[in-house]
Amino acid sequence: MYKFPKDSKLNNPEFIFGVATASYQIEGATGVDERCDSIWDTFCATPGMVYKQHNGDIACNHYNLYEQDVELIASLNVDAYRLSIAWPRIIKEDGGINQKGLDFYDRLITALEKKNIKVMATLYHWDLPQYLEDKGGWLNRETAVKFAEYADVVSQYFGDRISFYVTLNEPWCSAFHGYRYGIHAPGIADEASGFLACHNLLLAHGMAMPILRKNAKKSQHGIVLNFTPNYPVDEPSIEAAQFADDEHTHWFIKPLMEGSYPSSVFQHFKNYMPIIEDNDMAIISEKIDFLGVNFYSRSMVTNGRQGKVSDTILKKLERAEIRILESDDVLEDETKAEQLQKLMNQKESHYLSVELQEVERTHIGWEVHPEALLKLLTDLNSIYKLPPVYITENGAAVDDHILDGVVDDEQRYRYYQNHLLMVHEAIKMGVDVRGYFAWSLMDNFEWAEGYKMRFGIVYVDYETQERTLKQSAIKFQEFLGARKKGLL
Ligand code: FCB
Repeated sequence: MYKFPKDSKLNNPEFIFGVATASYQIEGATGVDERCDSIWDTFCATPGMVYKQHNGDIACNHYNLYEQDVELIASLNVDAYRLSIAWPRIIKEDGGINQKGLDFYDRLITALEKKNIKVMATLYHWDLPQYLEDKGGWLNRETAVKFAEYADVVSQYFGDRISFYVTLNEPWCSAFHGYRYGIHAPGIADEASGFLACHNLLLAHGMAMPILRKNAKKSQHGIVLNFTPNYPVDEPSIEAAQFADDEHTHWFIKPLMEGSYPSSVFQHFKNYMPIIEDNDMAIISEKIDFLGVNFYSRSMVTNGRQGKVSDTILKKLERAEIRILESDDVLEDETKAEQLQKLMNQKESHYLSVELQEVERTHIGWEVHPEALLKLLTDLNSIYKLPPVYITENGAAVDDHILDGVVDDEQRYRYYQNHLLMVHEAIKMGVDVRGYFAWSLMDNFEWAEGYKMRFGIVYVDYETQERTLKQSAIKFQEFLGARKKGLL
């Protein structure tokens, strides 16, 4: 089982342990009970976007198997379950409320209550109704208003039965993967769109906050951000790594905590900035009760040209090159490289991602570097006055195989043990971390990677829908069981 020093807060039942999932990744049943299409249904149906054109039509069939899944969750001895509610199940295209959608989550939450499992519900884990995308999606400010209305419906209905409301999961992914790099739904690759989507997402969060507070007074309300801290490969790259952090970390957390965007990024991308209305930053920086932190890995950054350039950066470079070819304001005696550098400095990032050789990686290619979680938490805590923190996602993709009913996911349970130790250290160093959710309860639809990547602590046989606890899950079960009995 997992083990922590005797005096560790993690051994105390007040520290919440949970498992996490998201609606589109597990529910399936996309065509039933008047659920509307989401942008992920559309994206999956577009050739070339998702591995082997997998989709969420069946996924883990959790919509139908939720009772046995709640049993499964309870068997792990966890305190809480982080789920997400599918907006397309709740609000119909004409704006009406879909009672059948609410009923499903009612059944699910009732089953969890019976097992004494606390609910953390994310209102937006990327499945935007397609009918809203048809009107511009997150590029349309009106979507933020619609989100607040949807949040009102859900929180009026469930009130305090949901202990933790999360407005958005990872607005970085929704905005940048979805609208800037085009690798997630809705697949738009455009610099200005990325920043506009981000602003509207943060507005949506801010607009929903007072509504959630009014409807669920005893619950905690917050947001989940993803963090991939940037490390310089060498001394000359320190500034580049700082800029990368400004662009990918502080661009999201600073407006929430301090009501402003980092000026370095604002200046660098000034031609792509959205219109910010007078009251926007006040709306966005509405006080939150907790910050959800999703952490998987770190990223290495160089300001030079050496190293293996990541696909995302490569795409950016290609677009910059096209602009060089098309632009008539480049001086004739500049070399191509100089022109490119100039354009990159003006309009694009001035750093590149590098892949370190000979480091441990998970199946999805992400470096395993637990110390980055500790550094992230302590850094954020010293820069911002952080509210209570929950690690809302952390976990590893492993190329799992089932052998005689056993899945020995050694890399995953080592990953959990070592990351949890970092959480323990962070608490000792003064960060107010109150809980930890493993991503994920079970293998599921991993977005553009389809079903190829397995993140579950429970193995799912997609043919039979049979669930099998992997060793990493058994270690949670044992540790949390012992904790419950006061044996630690
Ligand atoms: C996060 C997502 C989650 C899952 C993990 C692996 O970015 O929030 O849904 O896909 O990555």
